[in-house]
Amino acid sequence: MTQVTLETHNKIAAITSDFKGKDIISLDQFSAEDLQTLFAVTGKMKQLVLNHESSQLLAGYMVSLLFFEPSSRTFGSFASAVKRLGGQTLDIQNPEIVTSTSKGESFEDTIRVFEAYSDVIVLRHRTSGAAKQAAKAAQFVPVINAGDGTNEHPTQTLLDLYTLYEQFGRLDSLNGLLVGDAYNSRTIHSLIRGLSLFPNNTLYLLSPVQLRLTRGDFARLSTQGVKLIEISSEKDIPRECHFWYWTRVQQERFASPDEYHSAVQNSLIVTPHLLHDYAKQDMILMDPLPRVGTIDPAVDGDERAVYLKSQIRNGLYTRMALLALILGKV
Ligand code: NCD
Repeated sequence: MTQVTLETHNKIAAITSDFKGKDIISLDQFSAEDLQTLFAVTGKMKQLVLNHESSQLLAGYMVSLLFFEPSSRTFGSFASAVKRLGGQTLDIQNPEIVTSTSKGESFEDTIRVFEAYSDVIVLRHRTSGAAKQAAKAAQFVPVINAGDGTNEHPTQTLLDLYTLYEQFGRLDSLNGLLVGDAYNSRTIHSLIRGLSLFPNNTLYLLSPVQLRLTRGDFARLSTQGVKLIEISSEKDIPRECHFWYWTRVQQERFASPDEYHSAVQNSLIVTPHLLHDYAKQDMILMDPLPRVGTIDPAVDGDERAVYLKSQIRNGLYTRMALLALILGKV
């Protein structure tokens, strides 16, 4: 649990204004202090939910959920977050079919329409850079990036970092293993940036060759503060990892089914055996989900498996906290 000290409370007062009215586009925009603020509020939101307290913090506020790509957790947790805080949502899934986008209206105009009806726009889009483009188009309300193509997924990283923080009480001096589709996975791209905000973190990357980070991304992200080490087999997984973060191969990003199948064939799945052989006892196993070819269900009962438990739930608490901060309500 996040310990909220008096000192942290004072920091909230000081830093809260940094969130108010801000677009949330990339992990690069945060400082370590911002995350402390967010986590202190997240801890309070968690208590509110666990105690079934009703809240009117966002009463009178409307949040547009514009999801151009499918989503279960991000959409569901944002909708739940707004409603648990007494606000309302305008739910637009598949905007390219159900809005005037289908008649040829531009993306910018679509954003301007929904900013007229709401106080925040939460946007998921298949195009990298779409959130930034939307933030430019929206003049009056903040835009939250709920995943833009293969680029970033900042709110996923906020919940991932909160999950690590709850477990280890810190976000520095951690060793992590990131497995799967590093090439396409926006959750990996944001998590590397997030862990770069804290000192002494090392991330081991294990992917089939065709799914490694691009050489440009590897070089760029290596300069951000985190130590990145690519490994090529499970035999290289260091025992001292504090967490494993498994990601699916992103089928929808491949040009052809053949390319996808050859990538999947070379992918590694977590089994009880793999955990036994390579993981230590006090690590945690994470997955942003959906679980597609990532983790054998036989692992679900292992106490280190947090993906179906705290990791999902933390998405609700962190998004409640983020909305409350952005709208200047805490
Ligand atoms: C992720 C996403 O959409 O990028 N899902 C999520 O939001 N939890 C991961 C994925 O789709 O593989």
